[in-house]
Amino acid sequence: VTVEAEPRVDTLRVATGLLARAGEVLRELGLRGRAFVIAPDDVLPLHGDKLLASLERAGYEPAARAVPASETSKSLAMATQLYEWLADQKAERRDFVVALGGGMVGDLAGFVAATYLRGIAVVQAPTTLLSQVDSAIGGKTAVNLERGKNLVGAFHLPRAILVDPATLATLPRREIVAGWTETIKHALIMDASLLERIEAKVDALLGLEPAITQEVVERSGRLKVGVVEEDPKEQGRRVILNYGHTIGQALEAAAGYGQYLHGEAVAIGMVGAAAIGQAVGITPPLLAERQQRLLERFGLPTEASRVDLAGLRAAMRLDKKVEARANRWVLLSEVGRTAVKNDVPDDVVEAVLRRLVTS
Ligand SMILES: NC(=O)c1ccc[n+]([C@@H]2O[C@H](COP(=O)([O-])OP(=O)(O)OC[C@H]3O[C@@H](n4cnc5c(N)ncnc54)[C@H](O)[C@@H]3O)[C@@H](O)[C@H]2O)c1
Ligand SMILES: [Zn+2]
Repeated sequence: VTVEAEPRVDTLRVATGLLARAGEVLRELGLRGRAFVIAPDDVLPLHGDKLLASLERAGYEPAARAVPASETSKSLAMATQLYEWLADQKAERRDFVVALGGGMVGDLAGFVAATYLRGIAVVQAPTTLLSQVDSAIGGKTAVNLERGKNLVGAFHLPRAILVDPATLATLPRREIVAGWTETIKHALIMDASLLERIEAKVDALLGLEPAITQEVVERSGRLKVGVVEEDPKEQGRRVILNYGHTIGQALEAAAGYGQYLHGEAVAIGMVGAAAIGQAVGITPPLLAERQQRLLERFGLPTEASRVDLAGLRAAMRLDKKVEARANRWVLLSEVGRTAVKNDVPDDVVEAVLRRLVTS
């Protein structure tokens, strides 16, 4: 009797040129069936051919479908179109979906795979920096509702995460800058030696120099894998990944999606979290300064303008991690150590928001 192993988190592979070898790698990982590739219409023409040719050679009989490259594609309406496409193609339980693109398509295609035929396998092939170091790892999938982002979704761990840093060459500069935020976050909350490495290599990372980029992307991904393996459904330790996100995600919503990229908003949110940490005696002032300096060197924003404070406060109350109506603040006590507090006084938060945000 062979027992199918539990889906594992650690199926992360990082290598330059990996997309062109995707088929072989998926064979090694034991995937069977046919491959259904879903990609945004701006990514498929850039990176689709290599992937599809490799899947073809490995005998996966791939089919591909483009979706409009827009956050509005992360919808139940688009999911329905994709279910119908899979049904027309006679996709079966043993087949799998490949999400090629950034976090938008990773969430959408992951959600479709999580729900089609009550769940078929998904392979994440992330092509933005944010998705390579963060969103493709960890099994969170979702679509948006009019009332808010990511309100409908499922946990669905990928059977493989194929990260090819070479795909980043076509990414706009602003997406690269914002993409490094989550890596800086991972280093701050979990890994002092990675933080030092990043501090020593800011320009090389911004220039996507291959060796250091591959190294840092992989270390960042492995840090997230470690947390997710410990706490796949976010019932405990995984909450630390929310560092900078209480203010950051509320800022994205309050500013109107599109004004800030996720990584930009989280950078501002980390500055806010450090100020709150300092005010309640958890974050040493020198650490807050060190974080601020690094974000500035990356060209990330550290304060927000043209944002309505009342709107920001309202968005913070809608945070999915709110418990008994209190925000759960992830605060930094030293590099690699966090404390979670849900009793930060309102006036402390208010004072920080007033310094962080101008309308
Ligand atoms: N599941 C999670 O854990 C998680 C975590 C964070 C964010 N997210 C989600 O991720 C999404 C944001 O993801 P993102 O920042 O990757 O942006 P994105 O997916 O919207 O991609 C940004 C743009 O770049 C294009 N693109 C992608 N790769 C490219 C490449 N290599 N070259 C040129 N263009 C390329 C995309 O098609 C898109 O037009 C949001 O929907 C957010 O909710 C999910
Ligand atoms: Zn994030």
